[in-house]
Amino acid sequence: TDYNTILVERDGRTATITINRPKALNALNSEVMTEVVTVAEELDRDSGIGAIVITGSAKAFAAGADIKEMSDKTFSEVHNQNLFAGWDRLAKVRTPVIAAVAGYALGGGCELAMLCDFIIAADTAKFGQPEITLGVIPGMGGSQRLTRAVGKAKAMDLVLTGRMMDAEEAERSGIVARVVPAAELLQVVKEVAGTIAGMSLPVAMMAKEAVNAAFETPLAEGLRLERRSFHAAFATDDQKEGMAAFLGKRPATFSNS
Ligand code: HXC
Repeated sequence: TDYNTILVERDGRTATITINRPKALNALNSEVMTEVVTVAEELDRDSGIGAIVITGSAKAFAAGADIKEMSDKTFSEVHNQNLFAGWDRLAKVRTPVIAAVAGYALGGGCELAMLCDFIIAADTAKFGQPEITLGVIPGMGGSQRLTRAVGKAKAMDLVLTGRMMDAEEAERSGIVARVVPAAELLQVVKEVAGTIAGMSLPVAMMAKEAVNAAFETPLAEGLRLERRSFHAAFATDDQKEGMAAFLGKRPATFSNS
């Protein structure tokens, strides 16, 4: 299938969605949102896919929501169409999603990266929530996900000044899992995605759900969910295979069941 604003590539059990609006530094207009979310949901329904990578270009992961598309909108328009609500569906995808970020990840671009499961950044990456310089505030989860990831002090600093932070500061602050040289970004991320896609998909989904529960539930509730899912993993063939493979001193081959 052809898309206007993204490229989609499958390699074994990994799929990569590349945002491709180079003239606008990958600004996220409604077409990008629709295409990314539609494809991610399709891939999520496909048990042949065990990991999804979302990336942009060397210059920009995404320089934000599309300011041209938004600038003339009225309150009732953005409110009644619930602008950006489509992105919430990406956060509900159960297959692991990795953001591979090089260059600018600003505003909605930073928020898109943060709503993926984790971020691997090139040393060229720049993160920021510059919405305040445009007379708005983050609207795709930035005030919440950034604050949970980096704490109040740095979140307030970034959201109130609109300044950018480089990859090193982003890793130190906890929004980025790893920083790699820009030339190696895609290769490293695809290897990481391949590793994840080689695990049991249902168990990877349980692991993702359990980690996410840490952000949404009181500790006792999260621990209960974790314990139930841990027990449930024993209902899978893949638990039997994984443990038999360890004891047999051989690599596991998971069947995703
Ligand atoms: C629409 C954008 C854009 C954006 C860049 N472009 N960012 N178009 N929406 N968010 C366009 C420019 O208008 C320009 O188009 C082309 O991309 C190249 O950009 P330049 O500014 O010429 O590039 P450069 O000088 O290298 O500067 C890069 C930059 C700058 C520092 C990233 O583009 C920038 O500050 N962009 C805006 C970043 C931002 O404020 N993002 C937050 C958006 S609000 P032309 O046609 O002139 O060549 C947001 C939150 C909304 O995301 C609420 C929640 C989602």
